[in-house]
Amino acid sequence: MVTVHIENALAERIGPEYGLSRDEIRGLMGCRPASVITARKRGADRPAFTYSAEQTEAQLDALIAECREFEKQFPKGLRDVVILGIGGSALGARALKAALLHPFHDMLPADLRPKPRLHVLDNVDPAQAAGLLDVLEPATTGLIAISKAGGTAETVAGFAVARKWLVDAGLRWQSQSFIITNEPAPEGRTTLLWDLAEREGIRRMGMPILLGGRYSVLSPVGLVPAALARLDAKALVAGAACMYGRCESTDPWANPAFLLAAVCHQYLIHPKHPRNVCVLMPYSSALSYMADWFIQLWAESLGKAKNLKGALVNAGQTPVRAVGATDQHSQLQLFQEGPHDKVILFVEVGKYGRDVEIPPALPGEPEYLAGKTLGKLLSAEKRGTEFALSDAQRPNVTIHVPAISEKSIGELFFLFWMQTAIMAELMGINAFDQPGVEASKNATRALMGAPGGDYDALRSRMGVE
Ligand code: PA5
Repeated sequence: MVTVHIENALAERIGPEYGLSRDEIRGLMGCRPASVITARKRGADRPAFTYSAEQTEAQLDALIAECREFEKQFPKGLRDVVILGIGGSALGARALKAALLHPFHDMLPADLRPKPRLHVLDNVDPAQAAGLLDVLEPATTGLIAISKAGGTAETVAGFAVARKWLVDAGLRWQSQSFIITNEPAPEGRTTLLWDLAEREGIRRMGMPILLGGRYSVLSPVGLVPAALARLDAKALVAGAACMYGRCESTDPWANPAFLLAAVCHQYLIHPKHPRNVCVLMPYSSALSYMADWFIQLWAESLGKAKNLKGALVNAGQTPVRAVGATDQHSQLQLFQEGPHDKVILFVEVGKYGRDVEIPPALPGEPEYLAGKTLGKLLSAEKRGTEFALSDAQRPNVTIHVPAISEKSIGELFFLFWMQTAIMAELMGINAFDQPGVEASKNATRALMGAPGGDYDALRSRMGVE
């Protein structure tokens, strides 16, 4: 079970000048309405992402069956899957791949690799897109186009390029494609990708309308890539469900998401040392992309111009990714001695999937490492860093993951969602919109010549004909 430990953020460990009191944490839970705990989405009785934890066995069986049917479209086998998406439609699949597949899965010889390789094309960098297609075999490659809005320029452009690549190879692109986008809205509105799938007979799965991109990895958005890569989609969802139950507790010490949010929030508004940077530092290379996923979640959900009352607040807490032990030799100096503006969230792994014994030291080297394991060394690096930071009165929290598995990764996704939602409640902002991102999307469309009066107006404001 994933657990959260906040002792190194408390005054009793790092002193009253920099530490929080237990009463402060407890009081935050007590003085807030129930909505803090359930982090209700505006207008709904709970956040849309709770859907992820409530998916039924039958729903997941249907999703897995769709994936197996898709695989049948490849007589020579499905060897590569290209995910075309961006932001919340891409980062989750990449985090799943890094956390749960062999660390060098894509480099395993084909006969040792029964699962397809996942490639996430989340940019329109032409060299990257062309380069990826250079190394893939069209007949054994499936395309998954993922876009909630269904018309995002980067995703549509990437899909068009990859589609043409299949057509040029003389293949039936429709049967090698899979579309994931919003299901039709209650009033019947559909997305461009949904309609394309309808017209062309492309396999498609809908995602719930209310579910935002960064809250969607445990919907078809992440579960289809996971199931194609033979990961256990049911265990991912079971992990989320287990965490959901614990995040409903009104006992502050038993609610891991509340503890994380409360610490981050109290430091953000600290009267003497406000901390506007939140570092997520997993001691695991496999979790480094999970940190990338978290960065988008924290940045896009909390970085808001206005609060729920419409007042200008320009709120947010800047997320930073660091990976232990690598970043001990990069960013740690700053964390340890730089400005008192950061709160550090460690992710510690109890037992690594494999361990490697360190052989006797090289001639002339000290012997203290010999006979220990790399896993033990990495754990010691974490404990040592935690100790040194705490001694320097730098608040830090540990998220303990007993082992990396589908279940614990499901728990982590849900934990971070609920932490973000509760943080937003405490800050009095909406965690579920992204007006800033929309503004940039619209401006790009205008620059690319999208038709319509609104785009004409934008073009004129940007000084473009
Ligand atoms: O989290 C979000 O909502 C965003 O990051 C979106 O995922 C991103 O902008 C891509 O949008 P879409 O999935 O609609 O193509």
